Amino acid sequence: MTNNQSVLSWLQKVKDLVKPADVMWIDGTEEQLEMLRKTAVQTGEMIKLNQEKMPGCYLHRTAENDVARVEGRTFICSRKEEDAGPTNHWMDPQKCYKMLFDIARGSYAGRTMYIIPYSMGPVGSPFAKVGVEVTDSIYVVLNMSIMTRVGNKIWDVLGDSNDWVRGLHCKCNVDPDKRYICQFPEDNTIISVNSAYGGNVLLGKKCFALRIASYQGKQEGWMAEHMLILGIQNPKGEIKYVSAAFPSGCGKTNLAMLIPPEGFRKKGYKIFTVGDDIAWMRIGPDGRLWAINPENGFFGIAPGTNNKSNPNALATTRKGTIFTNVALNKDDNTVWWEGLDKNPPENGVDWKGRPWNGKTSKEKGAHPNSRFTAPAKNCPCISPEFDKGTGVPISAIIFGGRRAQTTPLVYQSRGWNNGVFVGSIMASETTAAASGAVGVVRRDPMAMLPFCGYNMGDYFAHWIEMGKKLGDKAPKIFNVNWFRLDKDGNFLWPGFGDNLRVLDWILDRCDGKANSVETPIGYVPTPEDIDMTGLEDAVSPETMKDILTVDKDQWRKEADAITEHYKKFGDRLPKELSAELAALKQRLQ
Ligand code: GDP
Ligand code: PGA
Ligand code: MN
Repeated sequence: MTNNQSVLSWLQKVKDLVKPADVMWIDGTEEQLEMLRKTAVQTGEMIKLNQEKMPGCYLHRTAENDVARVEGRTFICSRKEEDAGPTNHWMDPQKCYKMLFDIARGSYAGRTMYIIPYSMGPVGSPFAKVGVEVTDSIYVVLNMSIMTRVGNKIWDVLGDSNDWVRGLHCKCNVDPDKRYICQFPEDNTIISVNSAYGGNVLLGKKCFALRIASYQGKQEGWMAEHMLILGIQNPKGEIKYVSAAFPSGCGKTNLAMLIPPEGFRKKGYKIFTVGDDIAWMRIGPDGRLWAINPENGFFGIAPGTNNKSNPNALATTRKGTIFTNVALNKDDNTVWWEGLDKNPPENGVDWKGRPWNGKTSKEKGAHPNSRFTAPAKNCPCISPEFDKGTGVPISAIIFGGRRAQTTPLVYQSRGWNNGVFVGSIMASETTAAASGAVGVVRRDPMAMLPFCGYNMGDYFAHWIEMGKKLGDKAPKIFNVNWFRLDKDGNFLWPGFGDNLRVLDWILDRCDGKANSVETPIGYVPTPEDIDMTGLEDAVSPETMKDILTVDKDQWRKEADAITEHYKKFGDRLPKELSAELAALKQRLQ
């Protein structure tokens, strides 16, 4: 398949370690994939769904203890501990390799070793990078074939280069006590053992495209970010692009595929999805920041996805999609999840594989972090730029999270460095996307807390550095919060499609057109500055005032909490950011 010596010698070492009965090179052909699907159905690894209603769709269930990313078992193995930084778990690389090799040794016995060559980014694009994942799971092969660009063409573009990311996945017996997701950024290597959950085992995604790539970006002068990319066409036909970083489970996929409110549609607004999770961004020849989506599919959260909240995502999952941990409707062999519709199956099977009556059972049919893996090309609003590999120019960068209080619906930072400050202090409630407690507020800078492959203080410095290079061509930086609650615990803002109203203000701000008022934290629109046409009955002017309020007392407390948060970074915290904090405190006095 390839004569690349670095590839061949690594594969030989891996093979000697895991001792498979067979080796299969994934070539990217439909014939081979179809053969693997058949095998997976025969062994019970996947269930073939109703092929008339959902052609090419399958259901898979993971082990009950293996349903989300495991941040406590995720390690950055740089030679020096300080290079992993205060926010990552660290292990000495030599010790870690030894531990992982002991776990992996002989673990493919009697089974097949699949070799997946893949590209993150359109094959051959100047932004793209190659990876090779070795796995013993057909589920991983089939998911990687949706999420990335896979096949023999990868060997051609790689040639004899050594610039590729090594990835070894061993399912083992999914023992949670021996589960490890380890990144070795200095060796371009990822090893993941004892899991079969997507975020832990589809190594192109969070492991490579964020943890390894963020480190590469720092070395090479570009950025790998946990961001969706969205194009917004205004009635004049101009398309502007924004990228947005929200923590997992905080609305990236939904915002990336939003449907404009009716009034906006009639005026001629259109949206185009470029990416829903990861952005690789470089400074282009024109000095602006250009972004590509390195992925080829969407690994989205199923619960809550319905024809009202996200019809584009739902449409995307109607063919060629693998569902993980959703409920099965045995009557018509289709899938169901909480929030799909008001008609759960009576004759169902829950995500644990037990008979389940959705009409009477108090238990959930789908796991809260159940997922769909769907080809990007299925998406009705996929951008014509998606596959081009030259990227799209970014006008605005948006940070956001889940905050019941404190953070207003939207505000604009005072400039690049202040924008980096805004990203660095992001705080959000935890969600089901990672194992552990849900709903706990934690600092999640730039939504990268679980994904930054090196010292977070150095990462902030890299952002400051990029701003210097971009100068006046830098995107404007904003912060949003769709999740502010009233005193009864209801969302104040309707969210989803209506978020376009906020994006519209953001883009007008970029053009210097929209109004705002200055507050200690930045520029906030007045209720009149947001186009509320058609939403007047749902959101009163008082509510709008509430959502846009910046409460000085709350922010004084926030400033104290930020001071604590910043202490972690010691002398790796850029002085620009301590200056921003001091200036914020001053403005709050
Ligand atoms: P991602 O993991 O960042 O891609 O997040 P998703 O887009 O999959 O959304 C995660 C959860 O947040 C789902 O349950 C969505 O229904 C919910 N969600 C997304 N956008 C909004 C919004 O604008 N408002 C509210 N209230 N919920 C949202
Ligand atoms: P997301 O990503 O929740 O940010 O979409 C997948 C994951 O966390 O495993
Ligand atoms: Mn998502």
